[in-house]
Amino acid sequence: MTQNGKHFLQIPGPTNVPDSVLRAISYPTIDHRGPEFSEMTKNIIEGLKDVVKGRESTPIIFPSSGTGAWEASLVNILSEGDRILMFETGHFSTLWKTMAEKLGFNVEYIGGDWRSGVDAEKIADVIKKDKDHDIKAICMVHNETSTGVTSKIPSIIKIIKSLRHPAIIMVDTISSLGSIDYSHDDWNVDVTVAGSQKGLMLPPGIAFNFVSEKAIEISKSNNYKRSFWDWNEMITNNINGFFPYTPSTNILFGLEEALKLLKKEGLENVFRRHERHANATRLAVKNWGLELLPLNEDEHSNSLTSILFKEGVNADFIRKIILEKFNTSLGTGLGKWSGRIIRIGHLGDFNDPMLLGTLSSVEMGLSLGEIDHNSEGVKAAMNYLEKN
Ligand SMILES: Cc1ncc(COP(=O)(O)O)c(C=O)c1O
Repeated sequence: MTQNGKHFLQIPGPTNVPDSVLRAISYPTIDHRGPEFSEMTKNIIEGLKDVVKGRESTPIIFPSSGTGAWEASLVNILSEGDRILMFETGHFSTLWKTMAEKLGFNVEYIGGDWRSGVDAEKIADVIKKDKDHDIKAICMVHNETSTGVTSKIPSIIKIIKSLRHPAIIMVDTISSLGSIDYSHDDWNVDVTVAGSQKGLMLPPGIAFNFVSEKAIEISKSNNYKRSFWDWNEMITNNINGFFPYTPSTNILFGLEEALKLLKKEGLENVFRRHERHANATRLAVKNWGLELLPLNEDEHSNSLTSILFKEGVNADFIRKIILEKFNTSLGTGLGKWSGRIIRIGHLGDFNDPMLLGTLSSVEMGLSLGEIDHNSEGVKAAMNYLEKN
């Protein structure tokens, strides 16, 4: 199908890649064992520490998708059969849990409704009973991309720390880093897991672990076998700006440029921009008279919005109309929400006209798909953006 103009890639990642990042990626590949590369790696590592608000952390960059960074987080900290605590926020927490089980860890998975975030009280209940400190790690997804729910990570960690439980805290920030406020150091996180393809405005292909001193110490004595994912190898090479194997040179060119863009805009302004677009999107959904998937007002994600349709409506049919008629890709429902929701991504390199174009495509798609709604959503979003 031929479509004029730019495609609207409004899935919740991979996101739109800025032109200057694309240009950086297109530079000729250089020697990854040469001086120019070494200097770039060192700059990138410093820049990443600012984005994760983790000046005390050690960033580790893997040539992989986010799933690889999940695996790295587990195999560097835990030993075979170790007990870990995870919370069911949606599809991605479930995939991380399934991976942990496949790797031979003993997972206690606290059940959730795929419409709410991590429940601090439920975590506290389990921890209080763990008098012998058998639980070695607590893993949580900050922004559950399958639902559009953001968990209140800092207050949850505060509770864990107040109970004096020593478990390593691991947080998946794959769809929040560079979009929603996050602070590795101040929040007391040990391992932050991240990916390139969302708030960092890069194509998929590299992923990160940001690790605390405590996590590095534990990784030196845990007994789980690993090679490709070994932090130690990475850290010793990274000190000199190199990698133990061939890195994704050209995506790193893009990362260096993306970090410059984030710095120029200012991280706090980046967060405010995401919050403003999320507010406008939620207003549009409410004015259409449709239901937002998240149940709690204080857990709405600023990087994506999920619309839950009535039973019997095929949400993928609406997405198909919007793609075919208006050249706009929206996120499909995953796992339990397959066919029931659409997810509007409003993260990364994004501005007001792009949001209004996206919301207009949705509003027209709702009409063409004969979904019962009010045609007041885009207008409400425009009013909000004008005034804020
Ligand atoms: C929150 C979250 N965690 C993990 C992943 C898995 O990352 P990847 O698909 O890059 O392996 C995703 C992917 O979208 C995600 O959104």
